[in-house]
Amino acid sequence: MDVTYSLFAGALVTLLLLVLTRLSFIIRKVHVGVTWCADIKYLRSLPSPPKRWIFGHALELGPTESSIRFYQKCHKEFPKYCVYWIGPIVAEVRTADVETMRRLMLQPENPKPPAYGFLHKWIGDGLLTTSGAKWRRHRKMLTPAFHFDILKQYIPVYNEVSHKLVEVWSGLADSGESVEITEYLHSYTLDVLLRCMYSSNSNCLEKKDGMDYLKAVKQLTDLFMARVYPSNPLHLIDWIYFNTTAGHQFLHYSDVVHKFSEGVIVQRREELLKTSKPAKKYVDFLDILLSAKDENGEGLTDTEIREEVDTFMFEGHDTTASGLSWVLYCLAMYKQHQEMCRKEIREVLAGRDYITWENLSKLSYTTMCIKESLRLYPPVPYIAKELSEEIILDGQRIPKGTWIALGIITMHHDPLVWDNAEEFDPTRFNAENSKKRDPFAYLPFSAGPRNCIGQHFAMDEIRVTVAHILNKFHLEVDKKHNVERYAVAILSARTGIKVKLSLV
Ligand code: HEM
Repeated sequence: MDVTYSLFAGALVTLLLLVLTRLSFIIRKVHVGVTWCADIKYLRSLPSPPKRWIFGHALELGPTESSIRFYQKCHKEFPKYCVYWIGPIVAEVRTADVETMRRLMLQPENPKPPAYGFLHKWIGDGLLTTSGAKWRRHRKMLTPAFHFDILKQYIPVYNEVSHKLVEVWSGLADSGESVEITEYLHSYTLDVLLRCMYSSNSNCLEKKDGMDYLKAVKQLTDLFMARVYPSNPLHLIDWIYFNTTAGHQFLHYSDVVHKFSEGVIVQRREELLKTSKPAKKYVDFLDILLSAKDENGEGLTDTEIREEVDTFMFEGHDTTASGLSWVLYCLAMYKQHQEMCRKEIREVLAGRDYITWENLSKLSYTTMCIKESLRLYPPVPYIAKELSEEIILDGQRIPKGTWIALGIITMHHDPLVWDNAEEFDPTRFNAENSKKRDPFAYLPFSAGPRNCIGQHFAMDEIRVTVAHILNKFHLEVDKKHNVERYAVAILSARTGIKVKLSLV
């Protein structure tokens, strides 16, 4: 009886799974407006790691350390590309091959795949998610916001907020207890971003401004990831997803984020009403958004401005917090390099407590250590494209409409590209070694026309912050705390990063 029952239950579950996965195919077709035309039968003939019946690779894929290692292992076996199956009929091509990365990154016409659309209710159709003519228009209008003359003005902000961070951490130093640094660094980078981009008088570190925003962003990135690798394929379709508990949560947290960004815009409008000459010291991103005009003299609409504020608020703080966290983790791990950075920083500072714009180019060893940390721990571990045209990879046709994930983290750990790939070796980034390397082998900020618009902003901020921290503290990792990578949209540490701080 028991056996009959188990067999019957097994058959029922299998049938249900089959129906659901078949449905997911139809749903995806509907979801992307019938543009998804990758030929399933054909994709089955392409190289793919051994897969499970029905599930394909679904159980191996995801954000965890074991998935990151799984991609690495498969890349070793299939160095050009391979196909992963989420269930029996949903396929994704993945590559971490330098040549293929170059080809795909130099083609801005490849749109972002539908998974980026899952971010729509949150960041709308801003620079990160949009494609085609809208992307070209916005990119051109927003590029002046990242000109060196504008970035220079932000140096006092990086110094001021770094002083605050050092002050807060001074109260926690020398206690013998380790400090979980990633939460502080999220508040820190949000504060910097709000001040630089929106001239806000925020105080996220001491007054905990923006806490609701930060919590909402954390929830939203988790919910996004759960939708990219869904336990229920029905969640791929918007009108079903937004009627589930997860969908309601996504809408709720998006609302929290929107209220926060509206607050920032309202604060600026009120300031402008109070006085025609606001007390700000510099031209910020919001000024540029509000005044930008395209070649026809048209500005951005209110909705477009809101979408860009939401996009930059997220992209500008979460990525940099991740980058900074991993840089400090690496320096705490590799103390000889920490000492060399400190020596350089102290020489540059010469007794002052302020990093100038001119000082940045003198922090060459520190910059090499930052670049090496971004290699081992790229804050954006994977990006994806949808093929707008068929391409040939390794002699095989990859059909138009196929989704291709580009494994930045996988390539950064590839022993075919990097000697002793797992070793922390900043000299990889000295002038001589950098010259020898293929520029597409190192892509923390992506490359080509859709590269990161904020990369210089981020690098300047990280350099100033690291200089202040190492000038004040010795860092040591908490060996009792296990650090595990977790690749949601941004690379984080699953249970945070704990560091012991002692005053220099
Ligand atoms: C360490 C920090 C950062 C890293 C590692 C990083 C990395 C990246 C990567 C890999 C992309 C390509 C994403 C894709 O194609 O899907 C990207 C795009 C982008 N980043 Fe960053 N980013 C950082 C900081 C920033 C900052 C500070 C800002 C803004 C202030 C910013 C704004 C953007 C925007 C708007 C895009 C979309 C650009 C486009 O498609 O034209 N990022 N970033």
